[in-house]
Amino acid sequence: APRGHRSPTKYDFMVVSNRLPVDRTAPGESGDDGSGWRRSPGGLVTALAPMMTKTDGAWVGWHGAPDETVKPFSHGGMDLVPVQLSTDDVELYYEGFSNATLWPLYHDVIAPPEFHRTWWDAYRKVNQRFADAVVHHADHGATVWVQDYQLQLVPRLLREARPDLRIGFFNHIPFPPPEIFAQLPWRKAIIDGLMGADLVGFQRPSDAGNFMRSARRFLGASVKQQQVHVKGHDGKITHIARAQAFPISIDVAHINELAHKPEIIERARQIRQDLGNPKTVLLGVDRLDYTKGIRHRLKAFEELLNEGKLAVTDATLIQVASPSRERVEQYRLLREEIEGTVGHINGTYDTIQNTAVRYLHHSYPVEEMVALYLAADVMLVTALRDGMNLVAKEYVTARKDNDGALVLSEFAGAADQLKQALLMNPHDIDGLKDTIMHAVNMSPREAARRMRAMRKQILEHDVDHWSADFLAALNEKVVRDDS
Ligand code: G6P
Repeated sequence: APRGHRSPTKYDFMVVSNRLPVDRTAPGESGDDGSGWRRSPGGLVTALAPMMTKTDGAWVGWHGAPDETVKPFSHGGMDLVPVQLSTDDVELYYEGFSNATLWPLYHDVIAPPEFHRTWWDAYRKVNQRFADAVVHHADHGATVWVQDYQLQLVPRLLREARPDLRIGFFNHIPFPPPEIFAQLPWRKAIIDGLMGADLVGFQRPSDAGNFMRSARRFLGASVKQQQVHVKGHDGKITHIARAQAFPISIDVAHINELAHKPEIIERARQIRQDLGNPKTVLLGVDRLDYTKGIRHRLKAFEELLNEGKLAVTDATLIQVASPSRERVEQYRLLREEIEGTVGHINGTYDTIQNTAVRYLHHSYPVEEMVALYLAADVMLVTALRDGMNLVAKEYVTARKDNDGALVLSEFAGAADQLKQALLMNPHDIDGLKDTIMHAVNMSPREAARRMRAMRKQILEHDVDHWSADFLAALNEKVVRDDS
């Protein structure tokens, strides 16, 4: 048939997320394989790409270039269905409602969320567009897995258009307690949007609990065990959604394999040498985001230098802060603050030879990340709120010799799995300082005991388990309990 007259390819498995798992590349740019696209880094992609290449599914998402229309294509063994966003959509739906309303609201209002009706209108409109793309490409009875807070209305839109579909939703970020969620002028519509799914997955049991309490409070839903439903006007239950925790993980085998590569081990040695072989290398790796507690970490480190508990001659903090959402106001402010603080600390404590904080506003390929993990004696994950935090899991996986110490915020989802980390409250600066010193001075025996237990946990729960568990639960028959 002539091009353009063909009916669309139909899929029986579809993943939907705001971003497609690829980024545009310029010719010759790193990662460019000649196709003009490269696999993007990021947790979601690593989590789902292995499964996508194994099944004959398709991935629906935005390709990252505003105003550009791209036809469905394949890359790295995955079929991709691009959704177009205009410059306005990017500003109102992505930067606005997703990242200046929902993101701060769902992360304990660390930054004040903004509520604008124009942003909400754009969010609804763009969610509809994503749903339309799925409807267009989904085979009868297909399984559709919708990802994350940018697309919370998609499950309901899909169920209305296509009751034949099996619909899963996974929220990668925290779900706030109803007392905070209550602020959202469109709280009812969001809960209703999620309730369109057969299964709503969360990182922590507490997130699932928060969702169920909000469903009860704002939608009058009945909640029994983990099943949530609303009755129609006729008193009949039309649909039951199940809410449950599925803690996400990482591609353990890949990180572990990289950690054993001689060239990466050599690169780790080189990193330490380039820093002047300090006794202790501390490491922070985050998107430059106000949820990550980077300021709290810097404050604790500075006070330890000031008090002489650490000295620049034998301790260096490497802080990788990868650029993120740079057009959103709060992110711009944060960058200025962090860079001012780093400049202040280094100006005060650096010598010609030694630096206190080696600050890197870059993203790095996974090989370099693993070398950094191998080079670091102490990993600092001080998030004020974090859905999971995969960096903590990557660090543990990379520490194949069972040495090194993980300082981990109890506000990160990873704290549920990594119980032998040095858990702490990052708001408590004295507590954070004590915990850092505990990590710096930890005996090899204690470090090995903790790391071995944490590695066992992670090695037994990699990301394939996560997606398999979720999809198995999604495909279970719901037993309706009308009593
Ligand atoms: C978090 C979110 C993802 C998001 C990622 C990067 O991990 O859960 O949905 O894709 O941050 O943020 P960005 O705005 O660049 O997609």
